[in-house]
Amino acid sequence: MIISPSILNADYVNLENEINQLEKAGANAIHIDIMDGRFVQPITWGPTTVSAIEKVTSLPLEIHLMVDEPERNIEAYINAKPDSIMIHPESTVFLRKILLLIKQAGIRAGIALKLETPSDVILNCLDLLDVVLIVSCDEGFGGQPFHSLALDKISFLNKIRSDHQMNFAIEVDGGIDLKTAKQSKNAGADILVAGSYIFKNNKYEAIHALKNV
Ligand code: DX5
Ligand code: ZN
Repeated sequence: MIISPSILNADYVNLENEINQLEKAGANAIHIDIMDGRFVQPITWGPTTVSAIEKVTSLPLEIHLMVDEPERNIEAYINAKPDSIMIHPESTVFLRKILLLIKQAGIRAGIALKLETPSDVILNCLDLLDVVLIVSCDEGFGGQPFHSLALDKISFLNKIRSDHQMNFAIEVDGGIDLKTAKQSKNAGADILVAGSYIFKNNKYEAIHALKNV
């Protein structure tokens, strides 16, 4: 499994050190949750922070955009040179146009699905998708339980992927621990985002245990 730690529950004052530790502990990427206080209630960071993080790590950065009207700032996130940007369909009326902008910049483009979001929304964007992020808890907060509805979504996406002979990645985000990591893997997931599980345990041991589920 590919493991992308979420820094939502990191020590923000010591973010560089936290990210260096994750890198040394074997993380494959860093997952950055951008929250605007509207699409979700909490507020986290913006593109300036992503650019700053990009300078202190060689790991690929994933941007999970939980903001209303992402089209307003998408250029700034693209300029921060992440590896991937994931957008929630409900947040914009320009979903295809934004995905296209991301792809044209050489960045992997993704759709993020809340538990409420019907998975078949991706069918209108299959030609533009590099990754689908399934949010497997209530969006906006770390440390919440994994919802089993996410397993149905992973299986559905896995079937769409094979039916259409596609190779977009299936990524799961929220409530990941050893048990839910195994369940997600068995349903067809390729990438796991984990926050609390990694930050509450020894980072090296947690990341390696998740990689080998
Ligand atoms: C939730 C975020 C997640 C969150 C996961 O909306 O998208 O990335 O940080 O945290 P855990 O692993 O604690 O559920
Ligand atoms: Zn996330």
